[in-house]
Amino acid sequence: PPGTEPRPPGDGVRTGTRAAIGVPHLRTDRWWLAPAATAAGLLAFVVYSTWRAFADADYYAAPYVSPFYSPCLAERCRTMHAGPNADLFGSWWAISPAIIILIFPLGFRLTCYYYRKAYYRGFWLSPPACAVAEPHRTYTGETRFPLILQNIHRYFFYAALLVAGVLTYDTVLAFRDSHYRWGHMGLGTVVFLVNIVLIWAYTLSCHSCRHIVGGRLKHFSRHPVRYRMWGFVSRLNARHMLLAWASLVSVALADFYVYLVASGAFDDPRFF
Ligand code: FES
Repeated sequence: PPGTEPRPPGDGVRTGTRAAIGVPHLRTDRWWLAPAATAAGLLAFVVYSTWRAFADADYYAAPYVSPFYSPCLAERCRTMHAGPNADLFGSWWAISPAIIILIFPLGFRLTCYYYRKAYYRGFWLSPPACAVAEPHRTYTGETRFPLILQNIHRYFFYAALLVAGVLTYDTVLAFRDSHYRWGHMGLGTVVFLVNIVLIWAYTLSCHSCRHIVGGRLKHFSRHPVRYRMWGFVSRLNARHMLLAWASLVSVALADFYVYLVASGAFDDPRFF
């Protein structure tokens, strides 16, 4: 069928099938602004999260545990910080406990359809923008190793559900005071609440989630519940990019809030 003919070898977008235009592109707007801003935003998060993940300190301030370190699975979470801890990894895990955890949310975001677009454009210029040819000579898309591994995203979605569940639990625990008495609220509780709403909205707006919920159905009328859920997920899905950024910022802010309180730079204001 048309469109599936073998491509002329080796030339990427500059094949003989491309219109013979003497300039790299014909766009006159500031098309570079979006990929440049995207790259700057992602870079800022990478720098911040790398610092925090390897810091291995200031991630617990009762009753808050940083989302970067939760659930804290190494034994020293308890010995060092008296934080919530499942002790799964015992004492042999010598590096920062955040590394165990961050594999899952980072894997989810790295393989996310939106973030793929974002960093393919922002960092690899592949392509940098619509109707702007990429500089690479060859293009295989995501059909080969290593990018074919992006298909793992649907499995990371299930891991992300677990992560969102854990962060929900942490948000419930944030309704205590620093002596673990229930029925209290501080500014941190609000920070955690905003974050968990955005984390769930981003997770449920995932394209894989939309397919899991309503994909492969021949007759929506025979599956009214799934149809309603699909409609809900579809509405979120339309805002996937926005939710991706909002939840990225909120999770970094939640971690930073815990850092400020745990390091003594800031006192968590209590409402009641
Ligand atoms: Fe973005 Fe699944 S597509 S999280």
